[in-house]
Amino acid sequence: MSKLIPFARRSASAAPDPAAGTSRMSSSEKFISIEGIARRYPAPGGKPNTVFENLWLPMRRGEFVCMIGHSGCGKTTVLNILAGLEAPSEGVVIVDGQAIEGTSLDRAVIFQGHALLPWRTVLGNVAYAVSSRWRKASRAEVEERARKAIATVGLAGSEHKRPSELSGGMKQRVGIARALAIEPKILLMDEPFSALDALTRGTLQDEVRRICIETGQTVFMITHDVDESIYLADRIVLMTNGPEAKVAEIVENPLPKRRERANLHHAPGYYALRNHLMDFLVSRSKSLRDAMPAGYDQRHPPVVRPGSDGPEPIPVPAAS
Ligand SMILES: Nc1ncnc2c1ncn2[C@@H]1O[C@H](COP(=O)(O)OP(=O)(O)OP(=O)(O)O)[C@@H](O)[C@H]1O
Ligand SMILES: [Mg+2]
Repeated sequence: MSKLIPFARRSASAAPDPAAGTSRMSSSEKFISIEGIARRYPAPGGKPNTVFENLWLPMRRGEFVCMIGHSGCGKTTVLNILAGLEAPSEGVVIVDGQAIEGTSLDRAVIFQGHALLPWRTVLGNVAYAVSSRWRKASRAEVEERARKAIATVGLAGSEHKRPSELSGGMKQRVGIARALAIEPKILLMDEPFSALDALTRGTLQDEVRRICIETGQTVFMITHDVDESIYLADRIVLMTNGPEAKVAEIVENPLPKRRERANLHHAPGYYALRNHLMDFLVSRSKSLRDAMPAGYDQRHPPVVRPGSDGPEPIPVPAAS
């Protein structure tokens, strides 16, 4: 078992100190390990367009990680590589001890657009995914699993509706049910709530959060919404602006895992965290692209914990 040590106390406004702020994850802790990946596209003139290179990111089992960065910095590219939809130009992604090759039902993707089959009912869409996962399951077993997933996202009673009969929020719920029904090892979400109205977005965030905590799901999610990341994430990965984007920092969320949306803003560290994320998006994402601090190591990006001057520091596993 990992020894627990209190994390370093840092002020939110302090610039991260790359040397002092790194927290290395031991090999046994790494469930997902992005190891030195690059993505380059050919460009006119011969010099390729490098979206990012030498990008490293480990994730623990059961962790909820959000990635934030400006448009074009390569977030979707990272997610597509994790999903196996794209191959990196260099580097490798290890999941549960194995280098990934292509797509797998172990890694479910929820896109911004729900991508449902329009001719199938809600039950039909979810059952289709379930039967792809468990090819030998009986029809009754498939239906039972599908119905359970549909009920989990609050759509019991709508099993026989087609996508055209559903609201945007309901369609997105079906997409979530379909992803959860195949019991993936990893859930990958690319701005899954961004097209929804604020009320529906909040409700779905609550449901996803509840489900992920109950099932211990490992999640990698891209968002542009700072508040969404504070509510959902255990760690928030901050990307500098592209091209040649870098993981500028990994921000540990100091708020308790069991957090309530209604009183989030009263939690110690909330404003320090929010201000830190906003400052990054407003200015540091650009200034860091132009010049990373001395000692910056792409393999071990700085880990910061805004607001950790608060009364109850949360223990983290010891560095390896
Ligand atoms: N097929 C392609 N050919 C050339 N360049 C591409 C291709 N696909 C993506 N890119 C480039 O890769 C970069 C990263 O794209 P990506 O979609 O990963 O960004 P993103 O961070 O997800 O942006 P957004 O927040 O707008 O979704 C962009 O500059 C984009 O132009
Ligand atoms: Mg994107």
